[in-house]
Amino acid sequence: MNYDVIIIGSGIAGLSSAITLAQAGRKIAIVTKKLISSGSTNHAQGGIVGVLSQIDSVEEHVKDTMIAGSFHNNENAVTFMSKNSRKAVEWLLECGVPFANNDGKLELTREGGHSKRRIAYVGDYTGKAIEQTLVKKCKREKNISIFENTFALELLINNSRCTGVQVVFSKADKSDELFSNAVIIATGGAGQVYSRTTNPKVSTGDGIAMACRAGAKISDMEFIQFHPTAFTKNGKTKFLLSEALRGEGAYLRNKKGERFMTKYDERMELAPRDVVARAIYEEEKNGPVYLDMSHLDAKEVHTRFPTLTARLSKYDLDLARDLIEVSPAAHYLCGGIKVDLNGESSISNLFVFGESACTGVHGANRLASNSLLEA
Ligand code: SIN
Repeated sequence: MNYDVIIIGSGIAGLSSAITLAQAGRKIAIVTKKLISSGSTNHAQGGIVGVLSQIDSVEEHVKDTMIAGSFHNNENAVTFMSKNSRKAVEWLLECGVPFANNDGKLELTREGGHSKRRIAYVGDYTGKAIEQTLVKKCKREKNISIFENTFALELLINNSRCTGVQVVFSKADKSDELFSNAVIIATGGAGQVYSRTTNPKVSTGDGIAMACRAGAKISDMEFIQFHPTAFTKNGKTKFLLSEALRGEGAYLRNKKGERFMTKYDERMELAPRDVVARAIYEEEKNGPVYLDMSHLDAKEVHTRFPTLTARLSKYDLDLARDLIEVSPAAHYLCGGIKVDLNGESSISNLFVFGESACTGVHGANRLASNSLLEA
């Protein structure tokens, strides 16, 4: 089977590439190891950065991104991403993503490390809304073939060029080869390496491992981001509690009921993730840590965060009234397969987008909601 481009992975990075290339007349195959929406995008809650407000600027977004990333970032890549953020959000709007808005004007929320409100969102299920919209669009494109339950085993390399992928189709007892002019790896991160993670079961790092075996350069793999607030019960991570909760006013409290962030950072609950995660880890040495929204209007909290309200109610917890136990969990891989500003790796015709890529935008620690934007 021959294609112009084979895309491995079906989150926002894979699907947006597929749609753009198919619309340019290319014949595309999407290979995905489970169902099309099994990946991390579907789980993203907070939103996507867009430098959209009149009181915001590319310079301020770049600065916030570099501060969060401990200045280990590639500034050119950060600037490129930031300058294109408006275009990216507008493209998603054109695709039909129903971002929250007030009479057509986008509503913007805030998360840790951001000096401005600049995050476009859909309730507390932004990733799901994006994934569903893009899947629908892909399924309508006649130039796109989708292979679900198909595992990519190895990259085919000929004369130092990537020429396709060896795959195992669903229920097959042997491997097959798919050929193409270019391959895109968009397989996401590797959170399942950790016992505590917010990532879905498919986030095992296999795309990065495959590129590594083929000889591609890999970079910054030591920078694993821990999200500060995963809902925790009996010492086990249950699910992510979006940073947007703190963006909209949630407090963190320790066992004694103190707002302990006063001791760690003047930005309090909205310090970058690494700072908040380390503070929680310290406090947990003396007992559990909680997220508290009881000082906010309950109806507004329930309306703004419907999915989290419903999921917590299954544990007999009210997001707007109860203390919710939280703990850090592995969330995002800042490094990955090294690529340039076109997403091209050190192997010709092998491109990498999204969490499996290391473009340098995240540095040592990703700023919240830059991930969907980068992808
Ligand atoms: C969140 O909603 O807290 C996660 C968003 C992100 O990882 O940027």
